[in-house]
Amino acid sequence: MTALKNDRFLRALLKQPVDVTPVWMMRQAGRYLPEYRASRAHAGDFMSLCMNPQFACEVTMQPLDRYPQLDAAILFSDILTIPDAMGQGLYFETGEGPRFRKVVSTLADIEALPIPDPHKDLGYVMDAVSTIRRELNGRVPLIGFSGSPWTLATYMVEGGSSKDFRKTKAMLYDNPQAMHLLLDKLAQSVTAYLNGQIMAGAQAVQIFDTWGGNLSAAAYQEFSLAYMRKIVSGLIREHEGRKVPVILFTKGGGLWLESIADTGADALGLDWTCDIGEARQRVGNRVALQGNMDPTVLYANPEAIRSEVGRILASYGKGTGHVFNLGHGITPEVNPEHAGAFLRAVHELSAQYHE
Ligand code: CP3
Repeated sequence: MTALKNDRFLRALLKQPVDVTPVWMMRQAGRYLPEYRASRAHAGDFMSLCMNPQFACEVTMQPLDRYPQLDAAILFSDILTIPDAMGQGLYFETGEGPRFRKVVSTLADIEALPIPDPHKDLGYVMDAVSTIRRELNGRVPLIGFSGSPWTLATYMVEGGSSKDFRKTKAMLYDNPQAMHLLLDKLAQSVTAYLNGQIMAGAQAVQIFDTWGGNLSAAAYQEFSLAYMRKIVSGLIREHEGRKVPVILFTKGGGLWLESIADTGADALGLDWTCDIGEARQRVGNRVALQGNMDPTVLYANPEAIRSEVGRILASYGKGTGHVFNLGHGITPEVNPEHAGAFLRAVHELSAQYHE
């Protein structure tokens, strides 16, 4: 096993000292990069990139080759691989986002859902992880990921993206037992899937709870957080002689940071609506924080980007426990040079906050 040449991302997640604040960007491999668009055209479509380990590896490496400042790589894949492996029939309509051929609407639909075996049913993801690890050769750590049970359930019940989650919320309130059965199956699937990624070489894992913030406080606890807590307690936490940190990212979860910090996760992802210094005071020493620049700041000029990076670093203050990131994924319209200015600013401006 090659030793890691740059481990400041893993160190910051575990609150160990670092020289500068580590940084990566959610959706760092994606449509804002012309080299990504060329690979996608070559592969045919998005799912063909995900399902071919060579292509998945190629696009994972693209942002690292362009930006030497990146302190982590993230597996190129999608959260919807699990519902697809459960037989829902995932496809992408150009410009329309994800769609499923089969929709989950009744208790019988839920009872019929299988729990995918990561090696048999999602082997292409496991192969992508091991291919990327080999290609990285210790350059930076590799992040594996999954969607949260609640977020996956919204796509499975709605049949795709949604603005109001009408069907999913109706099921939650009309038939909470059915919703709990669905979430329980998803939690088992996610645990096995993330453990498979860890065994294949993922050195940290992130759970994307993109739609948890859309729930009431009470429903968030019962229908999203409870299942993420269950996943965290079932994950392999040490592999290859190193801790494997777990990051929970609930978009819109700023009101609930204390209870998210109590799940046993190592770090919380923050969107841009909360102040990171206040968040640090609230969670204390329990977890590290990842975030949290508004991704639309990248539409502004490099000086404005640099000043916003400086403001966030100052708000977090001195010491370790901060992984810089955007508060959500980078958008396709961003100028790649602005992303470069962002990443450089994080390293240049953060040295003063570390010993
Ligand atoms: O961060 C990375 O670079 C890793 C890759 C990654 C993708 N999707 C690639 C992708 C990750 C971590 C995801 C997670 C994901 N997928 C989430 C959670 C993260 C978040 O944004 O909150 C969600 C909700 C999905 C589901 C999904 N996949 C949607 C809604 C879409 C369409 C989005 C859009 O803007 O059209 C996708 C497609 C997708 N996943 C793309 C990429 C690069 C774009 C597909 C393309 O190339 O056409």
